[in-house]
Order: sequence, then C-alpha cells, then structure tokens
Amino acid sequence: MIAGNRLINYLRISVTDRCNFRCQYCIPASPFTVIEHKKIARYEELLRVTRLACDLGITKVRITGGEPFVRKNIFSFLEKLCAIKRLKDISITTNGSLLTREKIKKLTSLGIKRLNFSLDTLDPVKFAQITGRDRFQQVWESIHAAHELGISPVKINAVVLRGINDDEIEDLSALTLNDPFHIRFIEYMPMGDSAVEKQQQILTNEIKEKIESRFGKLMPIERTENDGPAKKFQIPGAKGIVGFITPISSHFCSECNRLRLTSRGTLRPCLLNNYEKDILNPLRNGASDTELKDIILSALTKKPSFHGLTDQPFRNIPISHMTSIGG
Ligand code: 5AD
Ligand code: SF4
Repeated sequence: MIAGNRLINYLRISVTDRCNFRCQYCIPASPFTVIEHKKIARYEELLRVTRLACDLGITKVRITGGEPFVRKNIFSFLEKLCAIKRLKDISITTNGSLLTREKIKKLTSLGIKRLNFSLDTLDPVKFAQITGRDRFQQVWESIHAAHELGISPVKINAVVLRGINDDEIEDLSALTLNDPFHIRFIEYMPMGDSAVEKQQQILTNEIKEKIESRFGKLMPIERTENDGPAKKFQIPGAKGIVGFITPISSHFCSECNRLRLTSRGTLRPCLLNNYEKDILNPLRNGASDTELKDIILSALTKKPSFHGLTDQPFRNIPISHMTSIGG
C-alpha cells in the first residue's frame, strides 16, 4: 500500500481502550468512559481486517492498547495472529504490569521477540504518582524477565516531564550501561485533555544535553529495519541504546509507514489527526473482502503528509487520547 510516496507496511492494532494504569500524560483529566463491549471489535474481526491488510502489503504488526494484557483471552488472539504467515514481525507495547515469566515464555514460543515497555521512573513512589498505580516492582521484574527470557530488544519508553521525572533522565539512560536495553525518550504530545502543562514539556535537545553532560558525547547508531522513528545513540561503552522520539521537535511524518486499527474497529491513518474510517460496521453488515480492502485503501488516501501539531499553540488541536487510539 502506498500513501503519497510512503510505503505502508506497518499496522498497529489497538486491542482495547482499557488500561489498568492512569498515566498522567495519557489519561484525560476530565471524566471519561470506556467503550461498550459490543462496540469493541472481536478478535475474529480484528484478524479479518489484519489478513486483508496483509494482502495489501502489511508485513509488520504491533499490538497496543490501552493495555493489551487487560483484554480477556489475548493469547488466543496472539496465537491466530502469529499464524498469519505473511507477517514477518509482531511486537507488543505494554505497561508490563500484568506480564509474568510464564506469559513472556508463551510470547517467545509464539515467535514474539520484541516488546516495548513503558517506564518513566525508577522510583516506586514516583511511579505510583505518575501511573496512579503502585506497581513499580511488577513492571521492573517483567522488564528483567523479558531480557532473561530472550526478548530482544527490550525497549523502554519514557515520557519525560519537567518537575516530574526530568531529574531521572541520567539514571534512566544508565539502564543501558550494563544491559542491552533500548531506552527511548518520547516527547510529550499534547493530546486530548491530559493534566500536563505546556511548561512541563521537554524536548529532545534538552534531554540529550543532560545525558551528554553526565556520560559524554552520545555516539550515533546506524538505522536498521525495525527502528521506526527513534533516533538512536549509544553512551560510549554501553551495551544498550538511547533513542529519542521527536514528534514535536522534528516530526518524522514523511517516513511514517503506519496505519492504525483501533479497538472500535476504525482505521486511523495518523496518530495525531482525528480522521478515522469505520471498517467494523461494514464488516458486520456483510461487506466482501474486496469491499473491505477498498475501505482500507480509501482510509490511506487520507493519510496526512504532516501532523501540524508543531505549528499550533499547545493543545490547540483536540486529539483523542492515547488509550483510545493505541500508542
Ligand atoms: N505523549 C507522548 N507519549 C505518550 N504515551 C502515552 N501518551 C503520550 C503522550 N501524550 C506513550 C506511553 C507509551 C507509548 C505507547 O506512548 O508512554 O509508552
Ligand atoms: Fe499508561 Fe500506557 Fe495505560 Fe496510557 S495506555 S495509562 S501510557 S500504561
């Protein structure tokens, strides 16, 4: 599938809008409701859309949420997903709190080798403040278990906010010194109505400077196929990688190879643009494979060339919050 001059081969599937965490930067500040069960795409429905998207050139899938592991029978879905031969790469983004060694072993036996965890702090008290849940230990253990059980790379996403965890940039980076973790600092995107203020947003330059003043000049790492938008570096002598995801300071829209399938059964060509195309209702109303493929292709024609977020005053674009779209 082509959108403009971009080859679209990457589908992100959000299997649920629900999450057992309440991260400050992700969850809306005002009361919100979760989507009714009957409006959530069933696994079979997500799989049908995925298979059709594979016919159109998708070769990579990432499972996201909310938190994917809160959805019942997620392993039965993952098994069927992994049986789709044309998919070369399946990965999952998780907060890690519900993963056990057993579950991680199951993932590796299915062929899922790459996991992205979210971890913004190494301090259990601060962890509870940021996520609303006292689960640091579980997350920390599942990150290490994933590494021990052969997940590679283990990626750790951190959203740095001034006055919250900006004092931990160096310590988070130090996680890469002795283990081959990839820590990725993501610039806060003002989506929906989270409680985060403009002055709390920290851009990559400032984060990078802090790391370099502690560890010396970061060495750029060559890009590989599964890199996505992260700009990768290494602390001299470190085993792991420090990456920066810069949606605000340097957008990467021209390289974006993604399409999103939300748990509501809509196709979303851009994370930062609210345009979504319903595919679930046509599917439930008996659309043929050809008709569904046309819907996928027509959604892609709406893939914007630029998200526009950086041109706007802070939070001037009301974008659905991350749990309902999938990160
Ligand atoms: N800005 C930047 N990153 C965010 N995430 C969630 N909400 C935001 C936001 N508003 C991150 C989470 C998770 C990833 C999928 O997206 O930390 O790791
Ligand atoms: Fe936090 Fe991820 Fe859940 Fe959002 S979806 S509240 S970032 S754990």
